Amino acid sequence: MVVSETLRMYPPLGFLNRIAMKKYKVPEYDLVIEEDIPVYISILGLHYDSEYFPNPDIFDPERFKKRNKRERPSGVYLPFGGGSHECQRFGLLQIKLALLMILSKYEVESCEKTSVKIDPRVLMTLPLNNVLYLSVRKLNTNAI
Ligand code: HEM
Repeated sequence: MVVSETLRMYPPLGFLNRIAMKKYKVPEYDLVIEEDIPVYISILGLHYDSEYFPNPDIFDPERFKKRNKRERPSGVYLPFGGGSHECQRFGLLQIKLALLMILSKYEVESCEKTSVKIDPRVLMTLPLNNVLYLSVRKLNTNAI
């Protein structure tokens, strides 16, 4: 739940891109997408939409309880993309392995210089100044 909420607020990719393979009328909207038109899907826009994620600026892992997940329409949470290009399994495995390797050896905390504000205009979401400052302390693993 914590990993999922982190990826909601800080998805590494800000948007997905597709190209329409055929003409498509968007249901309920006065919008027709012509064949070959590039389509950009804002992951950040969906993840911060208060209709699906109330109080979107609050970090709340409870959003990813089974019951709460079921109440959301599919396709509004897309940190790994969707459809045949989705990379969920690989991405999740990589995150879990990285957390395991780091947290088994180090204690990681935020510090005075930590800022998690991101620039929503870029493809790869990064902290505003491209640096994420953290306080890292090596654990005395011999004591465990
Ligand atoms: C935090 C972990 C990761 C996240 C959040 C992530 C996210 C994404 C997203 C959003 C896409 C686009 C999917 C779409 O267009 O629907 C993607 C595609 C892709 N990712 Fe990842 N990814 C992660 C880790 C990785 C890793 C570790 C690798 C490989 C070392 C990887 C390789 C790829 C490749 C090759 C594609 C293109 C797939 C295709 O077009 O068929 N990703 N990823």
